[in-house]
Amino acid sequence: MLGKSVRAAIATLSALLLTSTAQAADTIKIGLVMPMTGTLATNGKQIVAGARLYLQQRGDTVVGRKVELIVKDDTTVPDVSKRIVQDLIVNDKIDILGVGMTPGALAVAPLVTSAKKPAVIMLAGTSIVIDKSPYFVRTSFTLAQSSVVTADWAIKNDIRKVVTLVSDFAPGHEAEAAFKQKFLAAGGQIAEAIRVPLQNPDFSPFLQRARDASPQAIFVFVPSGQGATFARQFVERGFDKAGIRLIGPGDVTDDDLLPSMGDAVLGTVTAHFYSAAHPSPVNKAFVEAFLKEYKYRPNFMAVSGYDGMHLIYEALRKTNGAIDTEALLQAMKGMAWESPRGPISIDPQTRDVVHNIYMRKVEKLNGELYNVEFATFNAVKDPRLGRD
Ligand code: PHB
Repeated sequence: MLGKSVRAAIATLSALLLTSTAQAADTIKIGLVMPMTGTLATNGKQIVAGARLYLQQRGDTVVGRKVELIVKDDTTVPDVSKRIVQDLIVNDKIDILGVGMTPGALAVAPLVTSAKKPAVIMLAGTSIVIDKSPYFVRTSFTLAQSSVVTADWAIKNDIRKVVTLVSDFAPGHEAEAAFKQKFLAAGGQIAEAIRVPLQNPDFSPFLQRARDASPQAIFVFVPSGQGATFARQFVERGFDKAGIRLIGPGDVTDDDLLPSMGDAVLGTVTAHFYSAAHPSPVNKAFVEAFLKEYKYRPNFMAVSGYDGMHLIYEALRKTNGAIDTEALLQAMKGMAWESPRGPISIDPQTRDVVHNIYMRKVEKLNGELYNVEFATFNAVKDPRLGRD
């Protein structure tokens, strides 16, 4: 015979176990696999910060279900992304995935497809990734969106001779191809197409080659996080003094590093979907809350993470909290809202992001460097170059 107190203890224990099982079943698990260390570490840091800010502002429950973020560091190595995603699916039994850099997204696409997990791309900027799984939806951006707009702007501003310089990985290749296609078709000339190693780049010898070709401008894509090193070497080679303009997608003057780049980048013209100086009340509130929480400026990656969480929350609201992959994807397709970046929507056909691309120039506001928007291209879709 068990004593009264032992029976009471067992009853309490079973009650506790039951509650925790019920809670576990109720919790919606979102796995974010991001580069928190390694070459693209600043990107992961910004995305996770943006995602966490969203949860902090909107609460960590949605339609009565608790949301748990499980953040994992893939160390900027695609094989690690794959191993982590496998583990998150099999062991953590996550419901929804947040996907990071292009090489990682390409590596995890088959796993996402076979496990039928809704997966929101919050970092990758290559056009091709969205086609690699029917369960991918994107809140980040494509490099082709801003590269094509940069080419347009260059031609309109009588820039006819350009050297391209990009990081030697898929996003760089796509930026180069998109710019080239549009620029050549409009009568421009590419004097040289230079590719720079992604890891620990020394831009100096490549910049010398670019300078020797005497272009009117240099079109540059380096991933966010490498802009400050690039800017320093750009100035050391005297590009600014030679009157050779720096143009390209906004990764090179991203808000994370821009405050430390120095006055030599004043006047740099880039095309991009987000600037911390975007003049809207929604963005002002976002930047203020972000600065208060983290003490550094949000960049375009932070907004991609913030919007990724918004897309997930709103889709869950539409399914009333049900984790039904088809229903969630259906809810995400065509969704539109006002983001800190401005209007954003998900193309219902391609599941890709549609947003404004702004032309911006680096200027000083209250003594600090910002990308100040001066022209807007509305609701730009990925041009899907060579794919449709
Ligand atoms: C990517 O992995 O697609 C990527 C990384 C950093 C960038 C842009 C794109 O700045």
